[in-house]
Amino acid sequence: MSKRFYLTTAIDYVNGEPHLGHAYEKVITDIIARTHSSLGQNVFYLTGLDEHGQKVQAAANAEGKDPQLYCDQFADIWEKFAEKLNLSNADFVRTSSERHKNFVQAVLQKLFKNNQFYQAEYRGFYSARQETFLTEKDRGEDGNFDPIYGEVTELIENNYYFKLGEHQQWLIEHIEDNPDFVQPETRRNEVLGFLKNNTLEDLCISRPKSRLEWGITLPFDEEYVTYVWFDALSNYTSIPAALGDSATTKAIGLDTKTEKVSLWPADIHVIGKDILKFHAVYWPIMLKAMELELPKQVLVHGWWQKDGQKMSKTTGNVVDPIDVIDEWSVDAFRYYVVRELDIGPDGNWTDESFQARYSAELANGLGNLVNRSLSMLNRYRNGTLNVESDELEADAEKWIAEALNNYKSHKIQPALVSIWGLVDRANQYVEQTAPFKLAKQEDKAHRLDEVLYNLAEACRILAVLLWPVMPETAEKIFDQVGIAKKPCDFSQAKWGGLSKGHTCNKPTPLFPRKDLEKK
Ligand code: MSP
Repeated sequence: MSKRFYLTTAIDYVNGEPHLGHAYEKVITDIIARTHSSLGQNVFYLTGLDEHGQKVQAAANAEGKDPQLYCDQFADIWEKFAEKLNLSNADFVRTSSERHKNFVQAVLQKLFKNNQFYQAEYRGFYSARQETFLTEKDRGEDGNFDPIYGEVTELIENNYYFKLGEHQQWLIEHIEDNPDFVQPETRRNEVLGFLKNNTLEDLCISRPKSRLEWGITLPFDEEYVTYVWFDALSNYTSIPAALGDSATTKAIGLDTKTEKVSLWPADIHVIGKDILKFHAVYWPIMLKAMELELPKQVLVHGWWQKDGQKMSKTTGNVVDPIDVIDEWSVDAFRYYVVRELDIGPDGNWTDESFQARYSAELANGLGNLVNRSLSMLNRYRNGTLNVESDELEADAEKWIAEALNNYKSHKIQPALVSIWGLVDRANQYVEQTAPFKLAKQEDKAHRLDEVLYNLAEACRILAVLLWPVMPETAEKIFDQVGIAKKPCDFSQAKWGGLSKGHTCNKPTPLFPRKDLEKK
């Protein structure tokens, strides 16, 4: 069975509503998923929820709810959110599900049997907000812990530890030998710097039930649940195993006679910069201990701010993706976040910049091109193409090649710049050839036919190139150009797809102009 291109997002904590940061990560991953599907690959995109841990238990308690019920109610909101973003995810993981829990327990049992864990007493500090242990080293110069840790409490506990130290050297070598393993480069250097300048401390993988009940019980000690990060990271393998992927089932001693799907190793884990250490240090070590191959890439994006400030519910400085989508459309949202911010650096959302791009690039750029091209074709030729022509072919092929190269290396923002090379060229072609003038001159009928063909063909190609980023818009363009298929295959991005005699439909505006003054 051939392996599917398998990519994941981080799984979100369930104790709140989805925000711009979560939406951004899911959209990037969806665009990469659709890119690979347009390249002809069979893709499997996984996203979902991280439901256990102290944070969620505390949030449920505060509302007087049973944690499972609390998670079930939020899960509904998050699953609808994935639909709202038009994600092409193949599954949705919830870490409180049986299929996930069974896998995690099997892995814990295996690692315990293989002497990867030991028990020891812990004395130190704990941040529930970050679900992490702190030491004296983490205090600032003023003696206090950084406010990002929230309330920090002192603890003395007996716990289970995972031996990380013995894994340090091979991991450094793996990251050095595989430049693509952590991307972009700045993040790769960050991990290497961390690994070379610190001795890895063993990871505490248990929490006594007296302190935290909402988690997966250690199969070898009923008094404990496992650390939420051990649980959460395993989702990337638990779902493949539950679906019958033989690499992951074998790792936990299950022999799937009939393999139903082949997913592992993951091709890309898309994550935000704050959880790099978990994915580029702890996760590879866990996998090695599980005797599984490492993922091919951890792709790290930056963080969004709004109006130059950290987004915060308490100050009301947030972007609600659902509001933006309801007002401006899902594709306008998807377009803006990846056109504005490349994968890597931090970004800043302002409503002004969103509206400026909407109006200049979507409404006046792409929308206007499709609308006027197909309107003229309908007005002057009843929608029918009377000739074929290759006048714009060379220009188009240049932008197509550039866009595809960018897509293939997951450079989404540069891909959009290339695609807009074609949008702008086609709009300029309308100005240069002035079909509205040609239409008034009888002896220019053939010339008008040629111009109309070039414009319709440019629209068709744009739909194919745009599908990963704006699937709904691309499908509308195909519809308007009169093509029954879906624009989800890059092999259609080649000049000459429309034939003489083909009839296009009447257009309707793709991005209605908004009169912002009136609001
Ligand atoms: N539950 C963990 C991840 C476990 S993965 C095995 C977690 N959850 S989270 O809800 O806090 O964050 C989920 C993802 O959203 C992370 O990749 C994080 O970086 C991303 N973002 C959260 N806020 C963000 C912004 N303001 N901007 C961009 N991405 C941000 O961490």
